Amino acid sequence: MKIMKIKGNRELSGTIRISGAKNATVALIPAAILADEDTTICNIPEITDTEALCDILRLLKVDVKRASESIVIDPRNMENIEIAEEYSRKLRASYYFMGALLGKYKKASMYFPGGCTIGARPIDLHLKGFEALGAKVTNIKNKYVVEAEELHGANIYLDFASVGATINIMLAAVKAKGTTVIDNAAKEPEIVNIATFLNNMGANVKGAGTSTIKIEGVEHLHRCFHEVIPDRIEAGTYIIIGALCGNRVKIDNIIPEHLDAVIRKLEEIGTDLEVGADYVIVSKNVKYKPTTLKTDTYPGFPTDLQQPFTVLLTQCEGKSKVIETIWENRFMHVPYLNKLGANITVKNQTATIIGPTDLKGTDVVATDLRAGAAMVAAALFADGETTITNIEHILRGYESIIEKLTDVGAKIEIKEI
Ligand code: UD1
Repeated sequence: MKIMKIKGNRELSGTIRISGAKNATVALIPAAILADEDTTICNIPEITDTEALCDILRLLKVDVKRASESIVIDPRNMENIEIAEEYSRKLRASYYFMGALLGKYKKASMYFPGGCTIGARPIDLHLKGFEALGAKVTNIKNKYVVEAEELHGANIYLDFASVGATINIMLAAVKAKGTTVIDNAAKEPEIVNIATFLNNMGANVKGAGTSTIKIEGVEHLHRCFHEVIPDRIEAGTYIIIGALCGNRVKIDNIIPEHLDAVIRKLEEIGTDLEVGADYVIVSKNVKYKPTTLKTDTYPGFPTDLQQPFTVLLTQCEGKSKVIETIWENRFMHVPYLNKLGANITVKNQTATIIGPTDLKGTDVVATDLRAGAAMVAAALFADGETTITNIEHILRGYESIIEKLTDVGAKIEIKEI
C-alpha cells in the first residue's frame, strides 16, 4: 500500500507547470480508435488513468506507442473485443469506449465502469443518446451490450448537461448517417478539445462549447495530430495551495479563461493573484473574507475544485458555505478536514465552514480523487506531519505531484508500506 507523508506549514515558491487535462485525455484516447489511421496526441499527462486506458487499447489489439508526453494510437489492426470488468472498473471514463466502439463497429460490449464514489453516477443519458441514434441497449447485471444495424442522426435533448453523455454521444454520432443535434449539451472546455480532435480527423462537429452541438456524420476519419488542453482542475488545485502556503507561486501553462469562476472567487475572498496570459502568480494572504460558493456546470464553479477550495475557506474569517449541486456524495473530505482541526458541518448538500481554524497534522484518507487533493492542500498548510492513505485516487489525476510540490519547497513523499 502506498501512503503520502507531508510535513506542513512551509512557505512555497517557484513555478509549477500544469500538465494536459485528465478529463480531456480520458476521452481523447478512446476517441482515437474512430480513425482509420494512426493519430498522435501530445501533452498527455502521465497518470494512472492514462495507463488504464492504454491497457484497454492493448486489449483491443490497438498499437500504442508512448513517448514522453505524447502517444501514437494506431487502430488499423484492432479487434472489437468485449472489455472485461478488470479493465473497465479502473476508471469511470472507460465508458467512452462504449460511444467510440459503437461509432466504429456499431457494437460495444463492456462492463459498468468504476471511478470515484461521489454519487450514484447513472449513465441513463448516455444510453438514451445511443438509443436515439438507433442502438439497442442490453443490460445484464453490470454488463452492457450496445449495438445497432445502422446508426442514424437524431435530435437529442439532454435532461442534464452531462459532460460524459455529451462526449459519448459525439463519439457515437461522428460516423452515423445524417445529422445529430445535441441540445442542452455540456459546455466544458474538455468537450471543445474532443470536438477539435474529431474535426482534425475529418469529422464535422459544430457548436462545441455552446449548448447546441451539431454533428454531420462522415464515413472516414483520418490521421491527425492533436494537443491536450492544460488541466484546469490541476491548475486550480495548485492555485488554491498557493493561496494557502505560497510566496509568489507561478502556476504556468494554463488557460486562465477556463478558470474564470475560480479566479473570481479567489479574488472575492481577497487572494493575492496576478493573472497573466498563460499563468497565474499567487501568494498567501494574512486575512481572507468568507464567501458562499455553489458548484455548477461550466462556466460555473467546477465541482471538482469544491473540495480543495473548502480547505481555503477554513482560513476565511467568519462563516462560509459550499453548496454542491452536481454530485450527491461530495463531502467525504469533511470529516478528515475536521480531524485536522477545521470546523465544518454538512447538512443536505451544503457545507458550512467557520474560520479561521488552526490545522494540525494527523492521519487522513483520500476518499476520492479531489478529496485527496483537498487532503494534500490541508496537509501542506497544517502544522506538523500528515499521513494520507488511499493515495491511489490522487495518482489517478495528478501527474508528478510529488516532484511538482517538492520543486516549490514542499516536504512530501510517497512511501510503500
Ligand atoms: C465529468 C468529470 C468529473 C466532473 C463532472 C462534472 C470526467 C472524466 N469527469 O464527470 O470530474 O466532476 O464531469 O463536472 O470528465 N448524470 C445522470 N445521468 C447520466 C449522466 C450524468 O443523471 O447519464 C448526472 C450525474 O449523476 C451527476 C451529473 O449528471 O449528478 C453530472 O454528471 P456528468 O456531467 O455526466 O459527469 P461525468 O461526465 O461523470
